[in-house]
Amino acid sequence: MELKILLLLKEKHPGYVSGEEISRLLGVSRTAVWKHMCRLKEKGYEIEAHSKIGYRLVNSPDKLYENELTGLMKGKIIGKSLICLESVGSTNELAKELAQSGAVEGTVVVAEEQTMGKGRRGRTWYSPAGRGLWFTVILRPPISPVDAAKLTLVTAVAVTKSIREMTGFPAGIKWPNDVLVSGRKAAGILTEMSAEIETVNHLVVGIGINFNLDPGAIPSEIAEIATSVTRAGEETVTRAALLAGILNNLDSLYQDFLSGSFPQILSAWREMSVTLNRQVKVESVGMSEEGIAIDIDEDGALLLQKKDGTIKKVLAGDVSLR
Ligand code: BTN
Repeated sequence: MELKILLLLKEKHPGYVSGEEISRLLGVSRTAVWKHMCRLKEKGYEIEAHSKIGYRLVNSPDKLYENELTGLMKGKIIGKSLICLESVGSTNELAKELAQSGAVEGTVVVAEEQTMGKGRRGRTWYSPAGRGLWFTVILRPPISPVDAAKLTLVTAVAVTKSIREMTGFPAGIKWPNDVLVSGRKAAGILTEMSAEIETVNHLVVGIGINFNLDPGAIPSEIAEIATSVTRAGEETVTRAALLAGILNNLDSLYQDFLSGSFPQILSAWREMSVTLNRQVKVESVGMSEEGIAIDIDEDGALLLQKKDGTIKKVLAGDVSLR
């Protein structure tokens, strides 16, 4: 009911809608309408009430409420179930538990803040309240575990495309899955998998996007390398709209992937790459290689041309651009 009332207020925005009309359209008493208005106000919605003409929505809070997201989401698979939380240890960890207990494919877990956000290779991911998009998508693709890494590339394309479309920033992908803006990291992806030898049970694809980090509060270890997709007070897009845009793009790319269009997605990845044709250093457990990143292959592996002309296929690692 609360969502229906909110949608009605938004539909009439910036005009008024009378309590009587709401109660007639939605089949609830005027007292119930009034109670829902009070609850919306408690959640941060600014609503003007006028005894003669009714209610008017003045402002919506910058919150990732289901109310705010539902109307913006158009996906067939992704976002069919949305879990919006104020605070959680890690959305990936919660998503893994939910996936284990049967959550539907496309379930999205999003939190205003993570107290134990996880990055790749055991690193922590700084996830302060209200300053980013910290979310995880549960997928159940009918693929073999060896193909699972491709979905990280698919996700990187969805994130980069959405940041470009919605903020105007020329975001680019640093292999395998960092999204850079002006040479600094604005987003990262952490994909985790539960699988048998031949089949994937589920994947949780965790996405962290620095939206408007407070520069003064960024931990010193990432201060030099991290950036945000917008600055506080200068936002041209809301967090809710960017999140919905990413989920919508991911939904459509995921369907393309399932119907065999990974080669086309790889072409988009190449176009968005800031790694290709650059001298790079790749580091992984016990391995360090330098060379020119000449391409990614059909598995999503990086092809590195070394000084002696040989080509090395790199499946995983951290890339630094030289
Ligand atoms: C990286 O190291 O680049 C990957 C960062 C992934 C961070 C996201 S935030 C949402 C999800 N939950 C987590 O704990 N981590 C991922």
